[in-house]
Amino acid sequence: MAGSTFGKNFRVTTWGESHGAALGAVIDGCPSGLRLSEEDIQAFLDRRKPGTSAVTTSRKEDDKVEILSGVFENMTEGTPISLMIRNTSQRSSDYSHLMNCYRPGHADMGYDAKYGFRDYRGGGRSSGRETAARVAAGAVAIKILEELGISVHAVTSSIGDIILNIDTITDEMVLTSLSNTVVMPDSTAAAEAEKLIKKYREEKDSIGGSVFCEVTGLPAGIGEPVFDKLDATISHALFSIGAVKAVEIGDGISASLKRGSENNDAMRARGKNIEFKSNHAGGILGGLTSGAPIRIKAYFKPTPSIYQTQKTVSSFDGRIKNTELTIEGRHDPVIVPRAVVVVECMTALTILDALMDNTTSKLSYLKRIYER
Ligand SMILES: Cc1cc2nc3c(=O)[nH]c(=O)nc-3n(C[C@H](O)[C@H](O)[C@H](O)COP(=O)(O)O)c2cc1C
Repeated sequence: MAGSTFGKNFRVTTWGESHGAALGAVIDGCPSGLRLSEEDIQAFLDRRKPGTSAVTTSRKEDDKVEILSGVFENMTEGTPISLMIRNTSQRSSDYSHLMNCYRPGHADMGYDAKYGFRDYRGGGRSSGRETAARVAAGAVAIKILEELGISVHAVTSSIGDIILNIDTITDEMVLTSLSNTVVMPDSTAAAEAEKLIKKYREEKDSIGGSVFCEVTGLPAGIGEPVFDKLDATISHALFSIGAVKAVEIGDGISASLKRGSENNDAMRARGKNIEFKSNHAGGILGGLTSGAPIRIKAYFKPTPSIYQTQKTVSSFDGRIKNTELTIEGRHDPVIVPRAVVVVECMTALTILDALMDNTTSKLSYLKRIYER
């Protein structure tokens, strides 16, 4: 299986299946000299962990990270960093009825078509559990970005038809959202969203939503202007998360409904800096950062595993048959609250990689490092 590596300079390879012995990430390209402990990474994994509220699955996953290599005396060595999370709470028997049966909305059918063999226990690599490894690697990227004065924050921006106006979100609201179960930076909307999720859960159904992410502190000119435009690499990162079905940069779809005069962000000089009067572009123009905050949204479909009986197909010995399926196991009625930190981490990995790329964009940068 190719395609388990992300990034050019800060290269992250994730490995492991949902119900295997463990899963993890190998980071190649992390600079030496970063202070890093398991606790730093754990804080991010705890935000993704299930079983912490009524709106997530009751599945308990400890998600304890172990640093196996690349860090000595709490300092990165510049060598590959290997991170491992043991699978401790897997109930593979919950999945035995899926051995020959395809879950509607999930990756099972495509896996069989591609490989002719499939780890049916929890979906193998297509499980949302794979994102634990991304979060572990992303936590390291976020630590490096913090050293550079760059911050990446994400929140839930909608659950079903409960949609927040992201322009009203303040830094303080972002912080308070970390303590509510739906990670929504508005307590009234959060309470309504929680009620809605519980209703869907009672109806043995699931619901979708969106995550808003903002990156601040970036200089202008980061990214690439052609195939690797920053909009393209961010979209690649976010679309690679299970259940993401749309990505918007800045005003996104609504920009297509506006006039140029409404959509362009007016510029003005302030000292040595260029300021924008608005940020419809979401901080990216021509694939390069403008210096304004990057503003992006990732939209998630409802969790495919629902507890209603569904019509599907079973496949055995090359023969397919119509059947009905009632899914067991422990599944989230909504993916979004647990995916907030995943969006944050995938965005951070993309931004850090682009920053590293930019260190060779001007001769003066190279001279700063190598000139004697
Ligand atoms: C954090 C996270 C948790 C997820 N939890 C579940 C789950 O409990 N049950 C499920 O069926 N899908 C879950 N998914 C979604 C599936 O991984 C995804 O829908 C599936 O791989 C099919 O891929 P696609 O939706 O991108 O087409 C989760 C995804 C993420 C990112």
